[in-house]
Amino acid sequence: MYTGLQHAHSGLAYLVLLGVAISFIAALAGLLGGKTFTDKNRKLGLLGLIPTHLQWVIGLILYFVSPLGLNSASGAAMKDATTRLYVLEHPLMMVLAVILITIGYSKAKRQVGTNTGFKTMTIFYGLGLILILSRIPWNAWLV
Ligand code: HEM
Repeated sequence: MYTGLQHAHSGLAYLVLLGVAISFIAALAGLLGGKTFTDKNRKLGLLGLIPTHLQWVIGLILYFVSPLGLNSASGAAMKDATTRLYVLEHPLMMVLAVILITIGYSKAKRQVGTNTGFKTMTIFYGLGLILILSRIPWNAWLV
């Protein structure tokens, strides 16, 4: 079960990055173009929201079964940058990113027909993307 979850989490990370980046760029383009936020634009936001939600559920389970998650939590672990990343920083920042993206989508959904939906999505998805990029274990992932 652990290996399967590990592969799913690792593979889904590509879809998360791609989906959130597409939603963000589309929202930014709409904002800069001064267009009206339509239902089609709202649906583009789902490209970022859906893989991110799936990913955090898998991540949460992984946190309890992985030797790198809760199992390695200790006072000494906090002094080591790599263990601290897996035990604390990665889960915390990713959950914050999921919350930001979810708030962004929910707010923008209620702004269909206005131009503010683009601004909302640009800010919340943009902040979420920065948090995700800042705490991905790049060295372990891209080898
Ligand atoms: C947007 C959300 C997330 C993204 C994009 C993401 C991405 C990643 C990536 C790329 C890796 C490295 C995979 C590899 O070594 O091949 C990883 C590992 C890990 N993630 Fe996440 N993650 C997310 C959310 C979470 C959450 C919410 C948790 C826990 C609550 C979590 C727990 C873990 C754990 C424990 C590992 C280490 C797994 C292992 O190799 O044993 N992740 N994550």
